Amino acid sequence: MATFKHTTVLLNEAVDALLVDSNGFYIDGTFGRGGHSSLILDRLGSSGKLMAVDRDPDAIEAGRARFRNESRLCFRHSEFSRIGELAEEMGWKARVSGVLLDLGVSSPQLDAAERGFSFMHDGPLDMRMNPSAGQSASEWLQTVDFEKLVRVLKEYGEERFARRIATAIVERRVDGPIETTSELAQIIDAAIPVRDPHKHPATRSFQAIRIQVNSELDEVRKALGDALDLLAVGGRLVVISFHSLEDRLVKRFMRDSARPKPMPKGIPLMESQQDKPPLKLVGKAVKPSSEEIAANPRSRSAVMRVAERVA
Ligand SMILES: C[S@@+](CC[C@H](N)C(=O)[O-])C[C@H]1O[C@@H](n2cnc3c(N)ncnc32)[C@H](O)[C@@H]1O
Repeated sequence: MATFKHTTVLLNEAVDALLVDSNGFYIDGTFGRGGHSSLILDRLGSSGKLMAVDRDPDAIEAGRARFRNESRLCFRHSEFSRIGELAEEMGWKARVSGVLLDLGVSSPQLDAAERGFSFMHDGPLDMRMNPSAGQSASEWLQTVDFEKLVRVLKEYGEERFARRIATAIVERRVDGPIETTSELAQIIDAAIPVRDPHKHPATRSFQAIRIQVNSELDEVRKALGDALDLLAVGGRLVVISFHSLEDRLVKRFMRDSARPKPMPKGIPLMESQQDKPPLKLVGKAVKPSSEEIAANPRSRSAVMRVAERVA
């Protein structure tokens, strides 16, 4: 396994917001290379526990090797959409002090050509965070319906030339699967009539296909709901997003869960008899400082939101 580094985004900000009880139970749903987990462990007392989850087998393998002697930490190779079941198996339901999700891909995933995430490095067109589950990007592009492909490029990539790109892909795939990242990048490049001087023409399409292949938005939706059920009163949900689709989901979920349900019409209820909303928002959205962005340009699109379970 290649050893690429990942620079953790909003490290102190996220762990400061998460750690409300130094002897609590915590879940890091996106272990990556363990940047956040490592700081959580530094601040965790001897009876605290941390469950580290990642769907990428390389992340789990690197983590197990690095934290071999850490008895407060356990690893789960899994999608974070299963944190509900995983925590229940530990007897943690409604007892968790903090759930952290640092969404998206890690630098090792982007930088390793063989993972097929990047148009900057030629490799097999894969893009799965868990290479042993589901369809690779190459397989998906070979069979997807034209209109669905247009929709994915438009919605997940906000790509204004979605129809032209989809047409080029569908014409090319008649000769067999598109097998490499560089070939897909070339097809997109040739299909686009105008270029953004600040962005590679394949940026948006690669993002869109990655989100689709990994069901990223469904994963986040399910994990947010599970996290709410797992948190103890006083527990924190901390989510770092890297694009507006994810951030919108997180923002809406937190806002809706922090808002009282409308009073039922026709039933005379006192305000005090109404169900309290389960979450309260903690602070405003946090973005990396200009120093952090200068040191780690990949942090530039990050937004962190925090909510606390109150009922
Ligand atoms: C931005 S990185 C996290 C980096 C980590 N916080 C650190 O400091 O090293 C995102 C990680 O989440 C994992 N991931 C993304 N979506 C996931 C999902 N649905 N289930 C489990 N892991 C996921 C990726 O495999 C990747 O390793």
